[in-house]
Amino acid sequence: MSGLRQRSRAGLETVDNWFNRVFGPAWNPLYQLGALGWFFYWITVVSGVYLFIFFDTGINQAYESLEYITNVQWYAGGIMRSLHRYASDALIIVMLLHLLREYVMGRLRGARWFSWVTGVPLLWLVFACGISGYWMVWDVLAQYIAIASTEWLDALGIFGEPIARNFLNPEALSGRFFTLMVFIHIAVPLIMLLVMWIHIQRQTNARVNPAKGLTLGTLGMLVALSLVEPAVSQAPADLSKVAAVVNLDWFYLAAYPLLDRISGGALWAIVGGASLLLLLLPWLPPKRREAPAVVDLGNCNGCGRCAADCPYTAISMEPRSDGTAFSQEAVVNAPLCVSCGICAGACPTSTPFRRTTELIPGIDLPELTIRALREQTLAVTANLSGAARVLVFGCRYGPDLQALQAPGVGVLALPCIAMLPPSFLDFVITRRHADGVLLTGCPAGNCHHRLGIEWTQQRLAGERDPYLRKRVPRERIHECWVGISGLRRLQKELAAFRAGLKALGALEREPPQPVPQASGREREHRA
Ligand code: HEM
Ligand code: SF4
Ligand code: SF4
Repeated sequence: MSGLRQRSRAGLETVDNWFNRVFGPAWNPLYQLGALGWFFYWITVVSGVYLFIFFDTGINQAYESLEYITNVQWYAGGIMRSLHRYASDALIIVMLLHLLREYVMGRLRGARWFSWVTGVPLLWLVFACGISGYWMVWDVLAQYIAIASTEWLDALGIFGEPIARNFLNPEALSGRFFTLMVFIHIAVPLIMLLVMWIHIQRQTNARVNPAKGLTLGTLGMLVALSLVEPAVSQAPADLSKVAAVVNLDWFYLAAYPLLDRISGGALWAIVGGASLLLLLLPWLPPKRREAPAVVDLGNCNGCGRCAADCPYTAISMEPRSDGTAFSQEAVVNAPLCVSCGICAGACPTSTPFRRTTELIPGIDLPELTIRALREQTLAVTANLSGAARVLVFGCRYGPDLQALQAPGVGVLALPCIAMLPPSFLDFVITRRHADGVLLTGCPAGNCHHRLGIEWTQQRLAGERDPYLRKRVPRERIHECWVGISGLRRLQKELAAFRAGLKALGALEREPPQPVPQASGREREHRA
């Protein structure tokens, strides 16, 4: 990781930690900005449908109908109108924070370009929704937006007649133009839903619902805000006058005042250029992609664990092609693979108890094979000395592991902590290669590879295959999820863990055990 990115990530983690203190990792809104985006989207849809029932789409009636909704029906329609406005403002905030966060976290490179690139049209669609929405109110703000937007569109030079002429005087304005706006305000959210769905297609278990408490708290806050500060219209539009003062919604309309200073063409160049730059960011600067995971059919029994655990939908289970009795085989879709190694950690054949010559799992990472991991584990632990020898497994996105190295502490970094099959913990502890194992990496709730910490914890707790065998003493395993900025906390926890291990004393060596979690094929071989 470059120094700048590392510093930005550390800065982000500091802010995350402040929020963690208030909300805890499970409810931290910064960890679920995309899900909050979905939530605000649904609030605007539901409230929008309600408003539409009472909204009159005629240009002369629109304003009045909204006045009725706001003032007469304040207890229902009024709240719905405020929810509609505040949720759409909140959508802008979480979307921009989400964009910034994904960028700082570096979650846009390699196969992850897809979510990034499909996010860029979402920016345009969200703004188009908001702007067309304000237009429908037909107050002085709408009048300002209508004139500024059409003048801006005219700068493109694609319309035969300048469309801004529609707003020169009341007589020129046709109801058709207004109806077109209403149509846009309904059609764009539908297109947006489609793009939002596409946006998460390459994510396994994409999080589209925020944590329950966060959902209720956010909704409660929006309702409270709606009661305290209801959304209202400004003075009705009057095309015979030029609106002198309008209150802008800065979330949606921040670019409009620029049109007073620069030409429409220049503003198109800025937003077009910015969008193009955003679209290209996943490849700037170009970097080498690590080799994708590869399947070894001779060791794959088609159990499907790798496909279930891959966070990026890069593995599919296909009908068996090698004539063996198994019904399925794992197939890696290489362009979707980010080389996180989580699949290798999920494969039942990735066990260090197998003899080294045989250690070719059903699925593996060419640039860090499970066999190499076994060799590294043996090499690092062979150098450990003293009491309370600890092997630390971490990920590339966590604290600097080298800073922990000591005669009694060895370190190994993986692309993701979930690349580590639980049988490695069994192997290290029960074979007494070390007295304890410490697992570290990204902060809890914010795994760089989305699901790595969750899968690891479920495997250790025996809730997910391949699980850690019961015979492994849990007091010899410690987890510390702190991220890049958490080195000091990790050092403290490591010291405390080692003190605990010393108190526990040496572990009795286990008698040789049968191979754990062997695949069907292995069982066949042994039979
Ligand atoms: C309406 C606006 C948006 C919504 C509702 C939304 C929603 C989501 C959701 C639910 C996820 C999955 C999170 C997870 O489970 O890990 C996600 C991921 C992502 N989004 Fe968005 N998003 C929006 C806009 C954007 C924009 C504007 C960008 C950037 C241009 C963007 C870039 C990404 C990236 C890079 C990921 C992560 C992909 C990965 O982890 O590989 N999104 N988004
Ligand atoms: S045996 Fe390994 S490679 Fe084959 S499906 Fe199961 S987890 Fe995937
Ligand atoms: S390394 Fe495995 S788990 Fe990770 S993206 Fe590739 S196929 Fe999926």
